Amino acid sequence: MKILIIGHLGYVGPAVLDQLLKNKDYILTGIDTKYFYKKKFFEKYKNKITNIYKDVREINKKDLIGIDQIVYLAAISNDPMGNTFKKITHEINYKSAIKIAKLAKKNNVKKFIFASSCSIYGFTKNLTKSELSKLNPLTAYAKSKVLSEKKLKLISDKNFNVVCLRFATACGYSTNLRLDLVLNDFVASAIVSKKLQVLSDGSPWRPLIHIIDMARAINWAIDEKKIKKFISLNAGSNNMNYQIKDLAYNVSKLIKGTKVYINTKAFPDKRSYKVNFSKFEKLNKKFKPIYNLKKSIVDLKDNLIKKKFKTKNFRNSNYIRLNVLKKLVEKKILDKDMRWKNSI
Ligand SMILES: NC(=O)c1ccc[n+]([C@@H]2O[C@H](COP(=O)([O-])OP(=O)(O)OC[C@H]3O[C@@H](n4cnc5c(N)ncnc54)[C@H](O)[C@@H]3O)[C@@H](O)[C@H]2O)c1
Repeated sequence: MKILIIGHLGYVGPAVLDQLLKNKDYILTGIDTKYFYKKKFFEKYKNKITNIYKDVREINKKDLIGIDQIVYLAAISNDPMGNTFKKITHEINYKSAIKIAKLAKKNNVKKFIFASSCSIYGFTKNLTKSELSKLNPLTAYAKSKVLSEKKLKLISDKNFNVVCLRFATACGYSTNLRLDLVLNDFVASAIVSKKLQVLSDGSPWRPLIHIIDMARAINWAIDEKKIKKFISLNAGSNNMNYQIKDLAYNVSKLIKGTKVYINTKAFPDKRSYKVNFSKFEKLNKKFKPIYNLKKSIVDLKDNLIKKKFKTKNFRNSNYIRLNVLKKLVEKKILDKDMRWKNSI
């Protein structure tokens, strides 16, 4: 089976490659424009997959020859980046995904797996959101995912199946680590400063998923034969819904000496969503999530300590994806449309 992973050189990519490379029947190709690429992270995959360095906006029929399934991870992948680069977010996350899906359908690709997000539920006070709940996308990023899901549903048919995995907020150690994610930020802060500053009042709900479990969910979607046309599915675990303040207290419990500071005067975060993952838990028997909160914190802590992580001001560093993109644009290495000025 030939699988094309689009956007394989980001934070989640290495976990997906590690998971899919366990199956000797899969032949993997990756396409990515390498906004966050660092050679040493991807050395180990060099002879195991075919790498194509290309912008999704340039993908054509030739790139899809012989491909059986596509995993679409490419995105301007969070709210801060989406707010800064609204037009590009719409182009990459939505327009390109749809253009490629249409091309794939015409060229006999059988399945399209789209990385969607639970952030499309936006805000809920106490209600738990299921796949039947009303969507309330509050940001350019979330809006791009809703538009994509809607259009993909229309494109899907019995010969071209679409699986939209609405992932919870990712966490966990990656060889291409990012710290612009709530749990990763807390663990890194606790390690470098023993201080954990919660920027909101700590009340918002946020479901989490470890990147290894994201990769397992994708593996499930690839293998699953029962999907007949289209499915949108919350991907995560019911036991991974937490309020931000509880994430902080759990990190402080596991990293001794860490003090938690909650900004009680902050305006409550506009994004808060508690999500029901029962449908996913029922359908996905073979690749169930294996990371709970404790295991996710300990995994990241141990890896950061092993790597001698000491970047105190990591919130201003390249561990934050928005900083990387802003620098590339400011230095005019990327043009205003976020295409490389010189060849990749
Ligand atoms: N990280 C999370 O919390 C989370 C949660 C839910 C869903 N998701 C979704 O999962 C997917 C992967 O997330 P991630 O954290 O690895 O994101 P990431 O930003 O770390 O990686 C995305 C990759 O896509 C590539 N890309 C972006 N624009 C491109 C273009 N024009 N052409 C080719 N490649 C391009 C980037 O170079 C990067 O390697 C995204 O679609 C994201 O929206 C992530």
